[in-house]
Amino acid sequence: MDAPPLTTSPDRWLQAVLADFPAFLSDHASCEKKASGMALNVAAHYPDQPVLVRTMADLAVEELSHYREVIRVMLEHGLVAGADVRDPYVKAMQALIRQGPGRYLLDRLLVAALIERRGAERFARIAAALPGTPWASLQGFYSALATSEQRHWEQFSQLAARVCGGAEVAPRLHELAAHENAIMLALPPRAALH
Ligand SMILES: [Fe+2]
Ligand SMILES: [Fe+2]
Repeated sequence: MDAPPLTTSPDRWLQAVLADFPAFLSDHASCEKKASGMALNVAAHYPDQPVLVRTMADLAVEELSHYREVIRVMLEHGLVAGADVRDPYVKAMQALIRQGPGRYLLDRLLVAALIERRGAERFARIAAALPGTPWASLQGFYSALATSEQRHWEQFSQLAARVCGGAEVAPRLHELAAHENAIMLALPPRAALH
């Protein structure tokens, strides 16, 4: 399956993150925790699909370990994570999920895939920008996370093809990716992952 075009995140987003890195870390911790919960929800929703349950159980553990690592970084720097706030990007992406048999699961997996792909792109951007800042020691941490999220993007898109099959997967992925690029560009930059 060909990867659809990915619009690069604007520099103004990266500048917002670097201008308030503690706020970014707090949001990042929240995103990892939500990603773990989301994987558990998918597993709980489809107990009769062993491939899905196994992949989601592994993913939930991995995302939770990312959450633990971000929290450790924050505590080492004397930072406390704030309350979870609604993520307008994730909300807009979830609004793209259609209801109905054969559509809901496909869209859910493809939307998750695209959110992971954006995470990979943004963590890589952050890793490249950290040298020369007070947060330079986190460069390796963020490039490792970029690799993980890249793998998750591949896992979710492969899972969609495997579990949902059919000719609809690739065109729907391209359609959703076009929406994702537009949603990402329309949001005001914040010191947050999205
Ligand atoms: Fe993660
Ligand atoms: Fe992920």
